Amino acid sequence: MFNYENLKNILFKLDPEKAHTLAEFGMRLGNLMPSLLNPVAAQCVVVDERLELELFGVRFPNPVGIAAGFDKNAHMFRALGALGFGHIEYGTVTPRPQNGNNKPRLFRHIEERSLQNAMGFNNDGSAKVAKRAGSLYPFVIPLGANIGKNKTTSQENAIKDYIELTKTFSPVCDYLAVNISSPNTPNLRDLQNESFIKELFSACVPLTNKPILLKIAPDMTPQNAIALCSAAVDSGAKGIIATNTTIDYSLVGEPKDFGGISGEVLRQKSFELFEAIAKEFFKTTTLISVGGISTPQEAYRRLKAGANLVQIYTSFIYEGPKIASNINAGILKLMDEEGFHNIKEVIGASR
Ligand code: FNR
Repeated sequence: MFNYENLKNILFKLDPEKAHTLAEFGMRLGNLMPSLLNPVAAQCVVVDERLELELFGVRFPNPVGIAAGFDKNAHMFRALGALGFGHIEYGTVTPRPQNGNNKPRLFRHIEERSLQNAMGFNNDGSAKVAKRAGSLYPFVIPLGANIGKNKTTSQENAIKDYIELTKTFSPVCDYLAVNISSPNTPNLRDLQNESFIKELFSACVPLTNKPILLKIAPDMTPQNAIALCSAAVDSGAKGIIATNTTIDYSLVGEPKDFGGISGEVLRQKSFELFEAIAKEFFKTTTLISVGGISTPQEAYRRLKAGANLVQIYTSFIYEGPKIASNINAGILKLMDEEGFHNIKEVIGASR
């Protein structure tokens, strides 16, 4: 029987980015021999219509997605599907390929079950990634394309990058996610202002029939976040993804002074900002909650607070490949205990 703790002991001896590359290599084998994934899917995919929901005309088999940044280059759709995720947000992809920041740029805070990363949108660029995603789209589970500007693109020209990316990825995804919330591209978060958001959504929304969502940072006051999200929704955004990583370095014992922190130490901060947003936008727009989710209980809390979907990244590293499956099974158990018949009844139940 596969035991992730044994594999983790090996992976955690490696530099974190090397461990990711190794895991990615293993998962990519599933592209060469998809039949290898059948026993994995048999163990991990929780098939239960009580978990299904439809959002913007797309069927999601369960509410637990893999967050952006894990599959930046659209290499791992088959394996992630077999592991039981209900959707995949690939990217962040930039128009031109870029290497990202200098290494080392990914660190573990093991005691705190958290990560700190300063990757800086390392990716193969839009042409290659769109081609790869397109070879499998439409996929068995929904695909989101997370898009961001190149580091070398000036703030004045940022809008052009998002326009180009919207056109390129529109045919190869079920939704687009605009990323202006990474702390690792200099000045990117400065674009989190109402005037840019209005300009961006007004320019991009008419170019596509796919919904465009906005992904925001956790390091904003609720008032600022709500104002920003209002500007987005008023300009045609179809949803909010909250949150990205935090630059609150006080959350871990031995922080680096750069990059963004994810995982359990982000949990409460991310939840609180999500709560404030859900209070304002529940039922008005689609809401995705991400940040520090590692248990069925926490996923359930986000759903009850108004999340239509949840996403995870860091807990996949710490808990292993059964995480989506465990969270989905746990959600079903909690639903049984509380007498909910399907996930739609759970969403917003504590609002
Ligand atoms: C990320 N995240 C991220 N987000 C994004 O929109 N684009 C990206 O390219 C990346 N890249 C990335 C790399 C690494 C190594 C990590 C750990 C995270 C952020 C991610 O999608 C998520 O919002 C946060 O990590 C919070 O969720 P977790 O990790 O606490 O579940």
